[in-house]
Amino acid sequence: MAYSEKVVEHYENPRNVGSFDKGDDTVGTGMVGAPACGDVMKLQIKVNPETGLIEDARFKTYGCGSAIASSSLVTEWVKGKTLDEAVAIKNTQIAEELALPPVKIHCSILAEDAIKAAVDDYKSRHGQATGTAASH
Ligand code: FES
Ligand code: FES
Repeated sequence: MAYSEKVVEHYENPRNVGSFDKGDDTVGTGMVGAPACGDVMKLQIKVNPETGLIEDARFKTYGCGSAIASSSLVTEWVKGKTLDEAVAIKNTQIAEELALPPVKIHCSILAEDAIKAAVDDYKSRHGQATGTAASH
């Protein structure tokens, strides 16, 4: 299958690969897996306690090119956003930006789930209500 130029570009130059220290309480970690293909994505956000804005993000993805591109894109998108804005990111926006074909839509769902899980983790560590994470 042919990948779109944007997928290839993110795949070859992934942004924000790596991880933050889980013990840092400004960090939220989301780890999600896709039952159908067995791929795994870890996505972390770092929140500025003063402003409440996401100031940085990291990911590690064991998965296909579309999953890597989706997580790379999402780590770029969440920067400067509030937690509420971050959980409002839809997989359809990711799929559209990367021009993912229908069989690769689930890879963008993985990225949407990962960001929701990271926000949930951050909120639960700060005594805020959670429940935004969708099951895949
Ligand atoms: Fe591959 Fe959902 S089956 S990410
Ligand atoms: Fe598994 Fe894309 S095929 S994440």
